[in-house]
Amino acid sequence: MTAIDKKALIEARVNEGLRGQWYPVAKSVEIRTTEPYGTRLLGQKLVLWRDGAGAIRCLEDFCPHRGAPLSYGEVHEGNIGCRYHGVIVNGEGVVVRVPAMPECALEGRKALKSFHVQEAHDAVFVYIPSVERPEPPALALPRELEDPSWTGFLCTSLWGTNYRYALDNLADPMHGCYLHSESFTLAFGSKQDLMKLDRTQAGFRIERVAQTGANFVWTEFEVHEGSMFCFLDIPYPPAAGPGSFMRILGFTTPVDATTCKVFFWRMRQVEGLARESWRFLYRAALEERHWNVLEQDRVMLEGMPDDARTREMLYQHDLGVSRIRQILTRAAKSQIEAELSAEMAAE
Ligand code: FES
Ligand SMILES: [Fe+2]
Repeated sequence: MTAIDKKALIEARVNEGLRGQWYPVAKSVEIRTTEPYGTRLLGQKLVLWRDGAGAIRCLEDFCPHRGAPLSYGEVHEGNIGCRYHGVIVNGEGVVVRVPAMPECALEGRKALKSFHVQEAHDAVFVYIPSVERPEPPALALPRELEDPSWTGFLCTSLWGTNYRYALDNLADPMHGCYLHSESFTLAFGSKQDLMKLDRTQAGFRIERVAQTGANFVWTEFEVHEGSMFCFLDIPYPPAAGPGSFMRILGFTTPVDATTCKVFFWRMRQVEGLARESWRFLYRAALEERHWNVLEQDRVMLEGMPDDARTREMLYQHDLGVSRIRQILTRAAKSQIEAELSAEMAAE
């Protein structure tokens, strides 16, 4: 293999999404015992459902008989039944029954890949294995989700752009005072600054140099074994509850090469009465305003051509964008190298 081929494999891996990762794919409430849920992750079609005990199961969305999507089928006593000719498969991907054909040899065969699933804080995470990490590491989550003094709401959205642009957008605090300049929370602060980037224990922090406390001024990324997320603070005007800031915890899921799904927990550290009043205010008035801001991001990113990065001209503010790309490329390189050595060992 030439260096060029290897570089292309690494670029393709970054583009489709890293393996060896936990990715959130749906809200918990979307996965039911009554009907299957079809989705895609890293371009692969998946089906999820809850079995009889309420545990979530996840398989390739492909019927072992002739490939019909299992997500078009039905849940039968905790297993999934294909709509096309009724073949029933369990959560491990083993064919349980072929109702149309007595004593069919397919029964008892492990026919499909199954995936590890974990439900946490209203979201459903699926583990995509890699050669380096076939078994899932513990799912690392933002500490605010585990701390009861924080409260919040999960919002998700499907964006018609590669996940890399959604990550770049999060690693770019400078867009806040331009793209969101007419919003309720991000209309303040100066429009000129420099950026600085600092390493943190688990990742990095990108921050405006001259401005603090007004607008979106920093983002931190945490890179753990098997998961990556970011967080940032949005200062809150007094009209939006008990002052201070709202923290956004963000995960970005690669759906396929041109689609991603973003998962944002919008959190406040408020207790007692202030907590109840913020939760009420959020649902009654604030949520819609936050959606408007998120829509501005979505529309901008969807308007960018998929190959924009081949013609872009970065400047000092794009330190965070460069850093996130470097992290993805390094991880992809290590995955591709592990795959190539496993292939060579097998030959
Ligand atoms: S394709 Fe699923 S049962 Fe035939
Ligand atoms: Fe934004």
